[in-house]
Amino acid sequence: MPPALKAMNEAAGGTIARAMDIAKFKGGKKAVLDLIAPDELDLDRLIVLGTGPVEKFKEEDWLALGGRIKAKLSASKAVSAEILLETEGTNKISGQEASLVALGALLRAYEFKKYKIKKKKKGDEEDEDDNTSTLSAITFLCKTPDDAKTGFAAASAIGEGIKLARDLVNEPANILTPKEFSQRVSAFSDAGLEIEILDKEKLAEIGMRALLAVGQGSAEPSYVAIMRWNGAADKDARPLALVGKGVCFDTGGISIKPAAGMEDMKGDMGGAAAVAGAMLALAKRKAKLNAVGIIGLTENMPSGTAQRPGDIVESMSGQTIEVINTDAEGRLVLADIMWYAQEQFEPKAMITLATLTGAIIIALGKEHAGMFANDDDLAEQLGKAGMETGEKVWRLPLGPKYDKQLNSKFADMKNIGGRTAGSITAAQFLQRFVKNGTNWAHLDIAGTAMASPSTEINQSWGSGYGVMLLDRLASKFYEN
Ligand code: BES
Ligand code: MN
Ligand code: ZN
Repeated sequence: MPPALKAMNEAAGGTIARAMDIAKFKGGKKAVLDLIAPDELDLDRLIVLGTGPVEKFKEEDWLALGGRIKAKLSASKAVSAEILLETEGTNKISGQEASLVALGALLRAYEFKKYKIKKKKKGDEEDEDDNTSTLSAITFLCKTPDDAKTGFAAASAIGEGIKLARDLVNEPANILTPKEFSQRVSAFSDAGLEIEILDKEKLAEIGMRALLAVGQGSAEPSYVAIMRWNGAADKDARPLALVGKGVCFDTGGISIKPAAGMEDMKGDMGGAAAVAGAMLALAKRKAKLNAVGIIGLTENMPSGTAQRPGDIVESMSGQTIEVINTDAEGRLVLADIMWYAQEQFEPKAMITLATLTGAIIIALGKEHAGMFANDDDLAEQLGKAGMETGEKVWRLPLGPKYDKQLNSKFADMKNIGGRTAGSITAAQFLQRFVKNGTNWAHLDIAGTAMASPSTEINQSWGSGYGVMLLDRLASKFYEN
């Protein structure tokens, strides 16, 4: 038994050891011992959670432990709790690890229930998430509280970023219009971000015709939002650029999608949500780097003003695009904002994030985001950040043979590459808007950002995928 538990056991005349014995509790990673109103202890309840050997724990495991603690407390209808993190050996659990456990609990506690307003009648069957709202406070008792507090300051900044990204992805498209999204972003100036919103007149003036073509069928005007965080010692140092697809709803346009499952396309702004969440986290924890987030906010609708298959549009870069399929719209949005990002900011590295292709879900499922990169170092950095945080990426190839699939009879390129290698040809399309010398990586997060499987730290449809990953990329490789 770890020391504090041992002391409690002694105070309670050996009750805990006896209960463990009877329940055959051995401290394994799924083991639970739940003592209600234990005699001789001044507690309503003592819950002992086994973890298995923590020496092997990765960050992901600490987070998951926090989620598990939160779930157990809610299921017990606890209102408040004190958590004692202890190991048996001489190893102490660090403040950093404790703060990960706290973040895990916080992430598990997330819920999106603002539109469930009907009051339950007495006698209605209790719904199992219902007890999640009773828990109001968790206190962590640990050996190094100062370290834990410092660790948690950063962790809670990341937690806020993830909550924001989840909220944005979960919101329905009648509420989260491109305009509403831009307004929510504007409010981040309170956190010290410099915000600039470009409206559709401005976008027309600067030549973002590919992005505007996507939105031209919608009654909702398009916007681009730019978020800047200048936390480096040298305020003029080239920034890390995060570029996100923010299609607030994707019907497919004139190349309309089938009805079944189309409601999921409210999440087609998951790239923009990840960028906004990451920028907020960087600002909240006062990260020591320069970063810029650029998101293209629009809606892909069929109407009399919508773009048609066969239309040719001149992108901001000057290259022309034949729009064969209006459902391949994300790449048109990204083409213009990627160009803008490079022209305005000459970034050290540029990461694009987008729920770009259904094909990536077929290829990788929901475990890994698809990664493409023109630079091995950047790919390696993202790979490491992914392994550490549990927001994993898997690299796929790029190459001239794939690129050829985009050649068009009438324009510089077409917007789809045919039936094969759909995620790769989408990335190839984006690469045509990467300038020589820009280090670029692209994350296709169609499988990881939304319609997410439940995990210990996420029970939400919108996962907030990408916030932790980008934050780690920044802290590990771009901060000074
Ligand atoms: N937003 C979709 C991709 C998507 C699909 C995201 C499923 C999340 C879940 C994207 O705009 C799209 O429609 N892509 C097409 C491309 C095709 C027309 C080349 C696709 O994946 O079918
Ligand atoms: Mn589409
Ligand atoms: Zn889309």
